[in-house]
Amino acid sequence: MTERLTIRRPDDWHVHLRDGAMLHAVVPHTARQFARAIVMPNLAPPITRIADAEAYRARILAAVPEGMDFTPLMTCYLTDAADPQEIERGFAQGVWAACKLYPAHATTNSSHGVTDIRALRTVLETLQRIGMPLLIHGEVTDREIDIFDREAVFVERTLAPLVRDFPALKIVFEHITTAEAVDFVTASGPMVAATITPQHLHLNRNALFDGGLRPHAYCLPVVKRERHRLAVRAAAVSGSPAFFLGTDSAPHEIDRKEAACGCAGIFNAPYAIESYAAVFDEESALDKFAGFASEHGPRFYGLPLNTETVTLERAGQRVPDRIGEGALALVPFHGGETIGWRLVD
Ligand code: DOR
Ligand code: ZN
Repeated sequence: MTERLTIRRPDDWHVHLRDGAMLHAVVPHTARQFARAIVMPNLAPPITRIADAEAYRARILAAVPEGMDFTPLMTCYLTDAADPQEIERGFAQGVWAACKLYPAHATTNSSHGVTDIRALRTVLETLQRIGMPLLIHGEVTDREIDIFDREAVFVERTLAPLVRDFPALKIVFEHITTAEAVDFVTASGPMVAATITPQHLHLNRNALFDGGLRPHAYCLPVVKRERHRLAVRAAAVSGSPAFFLGTDSAPHEIDRKEAACGCAGIFNAPYAIESYAAVFDEESALDKFAGFASEHGPRFYGLPLNTETVTLERAGQRVPDRIGEGALALVPFHGGETIGWRLVD
């Protein structure tokens, strides 16, 4: 049995770092494990201008503890008024790594999102021409559609036509949760990839109602049926370069989670790499772990692979029920459970 696993240092291709005191509370967890992270722009107000992104990046860097080496990769939040010139300029300047498309009202702080993707033609043509990735929250927002079907319907209604119309556009289908998404990405060829979160590998929708309502298992897209979890797991451990690590760690204060209308988001940053390692171990696929965690992402983005390494060891560690103090206390993913792997500092 493998007892220690040394891999190229991983990156997180999808994370929410927030701002202010929360930013300072969560950044150390991500920076401890990951060399780089794609930082989501859904602040209030969202990050849409180069200057906003530069200022946010500086605030993130100021929250990185002394001695840790961490590079935030910034994203541009697309609105109906997205400016193709601002996007092209920011990409050329190395400020933006990608654009993020939230369908309006799909999730947290998405009210400024895109109401009709067809109206963004000039932006999409620009992204395709300059090779800048488009990161997509892939759920329809039509309230008539059952929430468990919103990703599959998005594939059919929006993503398939988009890929057909923009065949050279680099697309990351974020936090996929369904067999339909896996099948679409697998069939799409090298311009389409997907990130996969730890929660969508570990949980099915029973977790939402396990002996009572479980707000800390609630995120968007919501966790799905077991057959979808198994399809997403198979994709993650397949070795396909189209699937890579993106935690979607999304912290919310405890009283905003444990509420009559609780926020969507799972704070998985503190034990993210161990959580993924446990899945690859369970699937007897530890040989595929480095590809998923450290290689497929940078290759898709066209960025260099990290050169340093990290080591994980097989060792049970108990995840605390809470992390942090007072108003900044957070409930981590796997809180109260024991995970079978540990990152060696
Ligand atoms: O669960 C989620 N939380 N899904 C998202 O798409 C957004 C995120 C957040 O920002 O809290
Ligand atoms: Zn997200």
